[in-house]
Amino acid sequence: MQVDQEKLSAYFSDGPDDVSLENIDMTRLPRHVSVIMDGNGRWATARGLNRSEGHKAGIVSLREVITASVRLGIDVLSAYAFSTENWNRPQHEVNILMHLFAKTFVDELPLLKRENVRVVFLGDISALPTKTREVFEYGVEQCKNHTGMVLALAVNYGARAEIARACRLIAEAASRGAIDPSTIDQDTVASKLYTAGLPDPELVIRTSGELRLSNYLLWQVAYAEFYVTDTYWPDFTRWDLLRAIRSFQQRDRRFGGLSKK
Ligand code: IPE
Ligand code: IPE
Ligand code: MG
Repeated sequence: MQVDQEKLSAYFSDGPDDVSLENIDMTRLPRHVSVIMDGNGRWATARGLNRSEGHKAGIVSLREVITASVRLGIDVLSAYAFSTENWNRPQHEVNILMHLFAKTFVDELPLLKRENVRVVFLGDISALPTKTREVFEYGVEQCKNHTGMVLALAVNYGARAEIARACRLIAEAASRGAIDPSTIDQDTVASKLYTAGLPDPELVIRTSGELRLSNYLLWQVAYAEFYVTDTYWPDFTRWDLLRAIRSFQQRDRRFGGLSKK
């Protein structure tokens, strides 16, 4: 992805002491960075605020990470916003989130246009409240010809549901005679996932210290590098993104083979 050096340096000037652009090898960036945006509720509770204030503050972090990723020239940024299990939360919180998603998407559309970002959704957005779904569909349409970074938003996403759906699609194609079952391989499965056409995440960041995947991209993260920070999502900044990328670049990725070092 093309990088505007001037904008990049400007965006990452005046940083903290421990990390800067100089720590990053721009020739070895992860193509796809994925964030599990966790800890909004705890961030708010720690401040004596309602959980919804944490979700609102989390939007600010997402905007910053989107901009930072564009500046760095990351090809794909994905973000886990709402899982298939998050419907189990109190109705009030679910309603607030759905409203916030719709409002944010409208508010941020100019940013996505300005930055040439293409948006895709991972998950079953047909099951979302009408208003939210319509705003999402409109936004995807508005951004569909953009040629810059891909922003993949996981909303009503669950990896097991995604894999079950892929199985169903493949079985239907086989029963129509469109696929020969003996030819089904890993590429066939990957082509039926919501992430079809996108590279697998190379770096998965989870905030708020939880050491689990919570049903996120189970197939796609087979060889991803994980970075977990105790920082709550609303406190996550462009500098935390650099710290995660620096950590990624220090890993020895062997893919089952032997070290090249
Ligand atoms: C992540 O923050 C946002 C969503 C899952 C929608 P949480 O709401 O999970 O915050 P915690 O984990 O309760 O602190
Ligand atoms: C994972 O966070 C889902 C999102 C960040 C959207 P959760 O807060 O739902 O995960 P658990 O419940 O701690 O596993
Ligand atoms: Mg959580």
